[in-house]
Amino acid sequence: MSERVSINSCTNLDELEELAGPILPAKSFDYYRGGACDELTLKENREAYGRIKLRPRMLRDVSSIEKKLTLFDCDLSSPIMVAPMAFQMLAHKDGELATARAAASSKTMMTVSTLSTYSLEEVKEASDFELWFQLYVYKDREITRDLVKRAEAAGYKALVVTVDSPVLGKREKDIKNRFDLPGDLTVKNLTLHNLDKFPASGGDSGLSTYIASIYDRSLTYRDLSWIVSLTKLPVLVKGILRADDALRALDSGARGIVVSNHGGRQLDTAVSTIEALPEVTEAVKGRAKLIVDGGIRRGTDVLKAIALGAAAVYVGRPVLWGLTLDGQEGVEMVLDMINEEFENAMALAGASSLEEITNDLIFKSGGEIH
Ligand SMILES: Cc1cc2nc3c(=O)[nH]c(=O)nc-3n(C[C@H](O)[C@H](O)[C@H](O)COP(=O)(O)O)c2cc1C
Repeated sequence: MSERVSINSCTNLDELEELAGPILPAKSFDYYRGGACDELTLKENREAYGRIKLRPRMLRDVSSIEKKLTLFDCDLSSPIMVAPMAFQMLAHKDGELATARAAASSKTMMTVSTLSTYSLEEVKEASDFELWFQLYVYKDREITRDLVKRAEAAGYKALVVTVDSPVLGKREKDIKNRFDLPGDLTVKNLTLHNLDKFPASGGDSGLSTYIASIYDRSLTYRDLSWIVSLTKLPVLVKGILRADDALRALDSGARGIVVSNHGGRQLDTAVSTIEALPEVTEAVKGRAKLIVDGGIRRGTDVLKAIALGAAAVYVGRPVLWGLTLDGQEGVEMVLDMINEEFENAMALAGASSLEEITNDLIFKSGGEIH
């Protein structure tokens, strides 16, 4: 009850992290919040938004704000979506089921991770809204094919293939903590393949050892074409930070690009995502839908991402803080909070629809962005 009171007193997403931290076991909190090496990209993802200045328009009628959109045939209430994130039962016993129910109740897209602690079928069953599935590519191609087929059979609407993790980034908090899944938690989607537990880690993070042993680090654009050929679902590629890669992904059959550095958890000192977005927008020239993630905490961040070319954004960690604090309701609160801020930012910038969030809202003579 006291948690409920304090969660209600929060006015922004960063305050939720402060509240969630002490509730989580230290190893889980570190796994959720941490980044790679010196965590410079993790920090930069946030700070880069602060350097972008807006040029708001005045005296535009903003008496009604419209932020609905259709993305890959899914009708969404807002361009703010829930990022794929592993192991949500570390936050709450209902894990991905609670997140999916919260996303459904606000008609928000959630992308379910390959590394979920409930199976993709269980999560789909819990939700009465559309879902997308995030795919990691396993060395054993039959496992990869099986995951794609299962996602399609369960009714998922798109496949998000993550390509920034041939190996795991050096997450020093997890190494120090020997991060492992507590006894009762498993990688539920891999139970059939007997790969639902981390192997003995020998002093490293258990997740790092798991990934080194079974993810395919020989992956190339040829394999992406193969994945596209396996499914009728639209394929998005997640983890792109360069124009040339975006174009190669499209040439391999991808229909969407997620500009992402994995929330600063993979290559440290990689460019912040909002700084990488303009070059990808420029190269893709409307041929594909762009999504951006990393450090989105404020309504103005969403506004800037859309002004710079994104059709939608993913929010990551704050969803885990909401889940920790109050399960489904906590995630609903996170989504409400950032959606309200986004509407407020739209009104103050003089944009009453997503179409009116155009590049001229960005102040350019500072020179940081273009
Ligand atoms: C705890 C955690 C687990 C994650 N697990 C996955 C995953 O399984 N698959 C994936 O593609 N990205 C994963 N990500 C990256 C997110 O999808 C997203 O790119 C990132 O969290 C966005 O940054 P933000 O947390 O600053 O909003 C994970 C991120 C976190 C924080």
